[in-house]
This record gives sequence, C-alpha cells and structure tokens, in this order.
Amino acid sequence: MDGLSSSTQINKALVDEEKATKLLRAQAHILNHVFNFIHSFSLKCATQLCIPDIIHSHGKPMTLSQLNSSLPIHHSKTPFVYRLMRILVHKGFFELQKLDESGEEEGFILTDASRLLLKDNPFSVTPILLNTLDPALTQPWQHLSTWFQNDDRTPFDTAHGMGFWEYAGHNTRLNNQFNDAMESDSRLVTSVVMEKCKGVFEGLESLVDVGGGTGNLAKAIANEFPHMECTVLDLPHVVGDLEGNKNLKYVVGDMFEAVPSADAVLLKSILHDWKDEDCVKILGRCKEAITSKGSKKGKVIIIDLVVQNHKGDEESTETLLLADMQMLNLVAGRERTEKELAKIFSDAGFRSYIVNPILGLRSLIEVYP
Ligand SMILES: C[S@@+](CC[C@H](N)C(=O)[O-])C[C@H]1O[C@@H](n2cnc3c(N)ncnc32)[C@H](O)[C@@H]1O
Repeated sequence: MDGLSSSTQINKALVDEEKATKLLRAQAHILNHVFNFIHSFSLKCATQLCIPDIIHSHGKPMTLSQLNSSLPIHHSKTPFVYRLMRILVHKGFFELQKLDESGEEEGFILTDASRLLLKDNPFSVTPILLNTLDPALTQPWQHLSTWFQNDDRTPFDTAHGMGFWEYAGHNTRLNNQFNDAMESDSRLVTSVVMEKCKGVFEGLESLVDVGGGTGNLAKAIANEFPHMECTVLDLPHVVGDLEGNKNLKYVVGDMFEAVPSADAVLLKSILHDWKDEDCVKILGRCKEAITSKGSKKGKVIIIDLVVQNHKGDEESTETLLLADMQMLNLVAGRERTEKELAKIFSDAGFRSYIVNPILGLRSLIEVYP
C-alpha cells in the first residue's frame, strides 16, 4: 500500500485516465495531420487509374470484383484496390450502394465530387488536381522551413532556383499542364459569369484579359459580344503560338510594363498571385489602359477569391486557408479580404468598386477610376 486512502486513489486514477485520454487525443490529432497528404495522393491515384470514369461507364453500382477486373493494374495488386476505395468512400468521393434486398452485395457509385473528376465533364477538376499534385509543385513544401530562414521569394524558388512563371516558361510539360488547369477553372467560372453577370460586359467596345492564359474566358465574351474587340495579354510561352479570330486577338506582353488600351480590363485569378506592391503596379498599368482614350466607361473587372470576415462553413474556411498557403508557396501571392483589396485599389488610384459575390468563395469586382 502507498498510504493513500481509497478515495484519493480513485481520484488519482481518474486524473491519470483523463491525462491519458487527452494525450491520446492530441497524438491522434497530430497523426491525422501527418497522414493528411494521403487523401490527396489517394485521390490522384484513383483519378490516374480512371476509377471515376470506369464506374461511370459501368452504368450501375459496380462491385469490387467488377472494378478489379476493369482496372488497368497488375493482377498482384487487386487485393489492394479495396483499401484505396475504402478511404475514398470515407472522404465522400464514392458511395457504396446495396445491390439487392439482402444487402449482402454492394457496389460503388459516384458522388457529386467524383462526377467532377470525369474526363468528359466540361467542368472537370482533374487538370487542377493533376497540376497541383505534380512533383514540381509539391516539392517546394519540403523547403518551407528553409524558405523561412533564407531570403528567397517563395519556397518554389528555393526548390527550383527560379520563380514559378520562369519555370513554366522553360518547362513545356508543366506549362501545358498549368494552362490546362487554368482552362478547366475558367470553364466553370465562365459559365457562371455569363449566367449571372453578363450585364457587366454590356456596352463595352473593347476588353483586355490581362494574364488571360489561353483565353477561355475572353473567347466566351468575344462569342457573346461579337462587336466587342477582345485581347488576351499573357507571356510568350502561354500565348505566343495561339491564333485569335475576328474579334479576339492574342498579344504577348508583360503586364508590369504595359497593357493595351481598352474600355475594360479583366483580371481573373491574377491579383492573388502577387504581393500588394506588385498588385498596385499591375492595377496602375490597367488604369492607364482604361483611361488612355479618355473613355468614360473604363473599369477593371476582377474575378478572385475574397476572404470573408464572417466564418463560413468549416470546409470553405479550410479551403481558403489552404489556397492562401499555396499562393505563398508558389508565387508570393495571397488571398485577401475585401478591406485588403480596397486598400490596393485605393493605392493604385481607383475611387470606387462594386463586389458581386458570384460563385462560392469567389467574387466579381468592378473597380472604377
Ligand atoms: C493564375 S493564371 C490565370 C490565368 C487566367 N486569367 C485564368 O484565370 O484562367 C496567371 C496568368 O498570369 C500570367 N502572367 C504571369 N506573369 C505575367 C506578366 N508579367 N505579364 C502577363 N501575364 C503574366 C501567367 O502566364 C498566367 O497565365
């Protein structure tokens, strides 16, 4: 006996148990975060093996053995498919549906999320997934703490010895993959903008999409408004080989140097790539472009994420924080609140703006000189 009364012993045991429970919970929390990247790579693997497309083509719930025999994998790997599918079912990418009343046999079906990974879905997110999880873009995360201790612009610079845009200019595979990812993002945004905010473009005679990539959004605007002169300005490795049509042209240029004059300038997913001082410079060039002809209609149209001050749902809040870290990792940019954006607009000499929250976390903002 250690001399403690039995009630003291019980109390001590309870305290010890509480401590142990807290410790185990803390450990589980850390382990969950240590293993978290496995979600991303399991999803990438399933997409590369075309699992969403295979289940979709099957046309009805697909049993594990049917899936196993349809997959392009080595026969020794079939026992492991179940484990890959189990974690993806857990994360909501697939569901299991009973095949008969007895409920003994179940088959995999798609969810809204995996339908967005189908190859022929016009809004497919697969190009964004493959680009974001490319080794060239994941490697900089290994250098994050080193970057905090050196004076490199981004962890991407630390990993590759050059900035993201320069790297894309030298690496055709990554350039094409990144442009595909941006196109896939633009397809969804374009359809929403045309449905909800078409009026923003009414009455404009000319528009320049600055950093417009391969021109998805500009093409849709040019089609919808055949009397508008549309221009896509981007770097040589992005637009150098592209051909326009009667009211759409591609111009190679640097948005820090000059922007062709027009009634309106479009900036989609541009400002979040840059630090505040650079945003002010870009907006300064845009302001010159829309005021050079003395036009009264001049405006800059921005489509970007706007961080909400009020708390959104847990997943959206987390997505925003992750997107912000990705901007830090790749391009020294950041996601901003409306107040932070307003400061940049004002520093660049703009006087007013209107925010149209159009899709999820993103807004279309009209900015006036
Ligand atoms: C995040 S992407 C956005 C592409 C397009 N606006 C979209 O949302 O689909 C940024 C674009 O800015 C372009 N860019 C980067 N630096 C640039 C510069 N100095 N001048 C013009 N474009 C630039 C990139 O080549 C890329 O196409």
